[in-house]
Amino acid sequence: MDKVLARGSGSSVARPRARTALATAVAGAAVIAGTVAVASSASAGTTLGASAAESGRYFGTAVAANKLSDSTYVGILNREFNMATPENEMKWDATEPSQGQFNYSNADRIVNHAQANGMRVRGHALAWHSQQPGWAQNLSGTALRQAMTNHVTQVATYYKGKIYAWDVVNEAFADGGTGARRDSNLQRTGNDWIEVAFRAARAADPGAKLCYNDYNTDGQNAKSNAVYAMVQDFKSRGVPIDCVGFQSHFNSASPVPSDYQANLQRFANLGVDVQITELDIEGSGTAQADNYNRVVRACLAVSRCTGITVWGIRDSDSWRASGTPLLFDGSGNKKAAYTSTLNALNGGGTTPPPTTAPPTTAPPTTAPPTTAPPTTPPPSGTGCTATLSNNQWQGGFVTNVTVRAGTNPVNGWAVTLTLPGGSIITNTWSAQPSGTSGTVTFRNVDYNRTIAAGQSTEFGFQGNGTAPTGTATCSAS
Ligand code: G3I
Repeated sequence: MDKVLARGSGSSVARPRARTALATAVAGAAVIAGTVAVASSASAGTTLGASAAESGRYFGTAVAANKLSDSTYVGILNREFNMATPENEMKWDATEPSQGQFNYSNADRIVNHAQANGMRVRGHALAWHSQQPGWAQNLSGTALRQAMTNHVTQVATYYKGKIYAWDVVNEAFADGGTGARRDSNLQRTGNDWIEVAFRAARAADPGAKLCYNDYNTDGQNAKSNAVYAMVQDFKSRGVPIDCVGFQSHFNSASPVPSDYQANLQRFANLGVDVQITELDIEGSGTAQADNYNRVVRACLAVSRCTGITVWGIRDSDSWRASGTPLLFDGSGNKKAAYTSTLNALNGGGTTPPPTTAPPTTAPPTTAPPTTAPPTTPPPSGTGCTATLSNNQWQGGFVTNVTVRAGTNPVNGWAVTLTLPGGSIITNTWSAQPSGTSGTVTFRNVDYNRTIAAGQSTEFGFQGNGTAPTGTATCSAS
């Protein structure tokens, strides 16, 4: 499931690896954080940015400052995109190379280009364990905490009013089944470092949306469950958080999860926006195109999914160029993935139908069999089944439950199971539980009430103690 970064000297991080019409384009439109901007040269339905804007969303790309002198690159950027994320230029090592000495020159090149061309900017990233300047890597404890807080405050203040959304904290959770925080120098300053960073960012730029951003959180798993629990906790305690970014770096080892849309939706149900922040999908041809189409349709199906950013323009611009994961080839030509993405943004399905003529073979002339239909009733037609999948660690667990309809559609469901003595549920998603211990009934929430015949949906819960191991009963209405 894990993949190693393909390039970069200091980047051996293991990585896993998925109409409201707007006003017409306004050349040089002022960019105001929190409002919908319009790409200056985009026309509705024919470019990624304009098509996304038709539903109030944006379509962005990572931008590298050193490519702004490449005319092919800039031509595509200005034509297709209405959001820009500096790929590396706003990171801590770039903006504060020496403690207290800030350098915004490359980030400014991108922000200025974006503003001059009617694009908004996603800021990436204020606090991250990676790409720290050497001086910060060598700090710990209070000194590091103060340096981090100062960094967040200074950078967010410098860009105040120019940033649509900040990735305030990036990649703070560990991979694997523990749901634990990632160990890092920042984490070792105390578990509250994330909320301290969010509070500092809000104080510095109250107009920017504040996001938590991570990878391998694109489906429901222990890591995304832990992020979910953090967002739920922040919302309940008033820690300022407005959005969750799902990086969405996909390949054959880490494909688009089957519950991608449901996962976006469950976060949105917490009262935050969700954004696809670093999309790339390794592959080629129809398979790649179909995956892009699916990801875009998932975002469009979630009202709080406010936009999609791809992590680069041409395959050759990608951090993993050999996987040809982007929408334009190395020469800047549109790939099948581009067309399927645009189709999805314009409300269409996947790749165009085959152009080959249908087979002309005559239908068989033999008479259909005359055997009488079976008189036995259809098997288990009205019910549903619930299957548990547990992830247990010392002292805690996550249980995912697949609810599957029988041969009839389900219009409301309830799953009942019994927790072992002493086990307590601390967090449930995509279902409403009747309690937190003993025998608990989980009922559907609005968006997963109906299940087509033979199809399934998922919900889950996290708890302290031991996961349920017995059977779960499912009743359908
Ligand atoms: O610019 C220098 C160049 O002067 C030098 O010769 C060369 C030697 O290796 O390095 C160049 O810098 C590289 C930089 O990208 C620009 O290409 C760094 O080594 C390399 O580490 C850096 O990689 C970036 C990576 O983050 C670092 O973690 C990628 O461009 C960037 O796409 C990637 O983006 C991350 C997101 O921030 C967070 N999510 C995952 C995503 C992909 O890894």
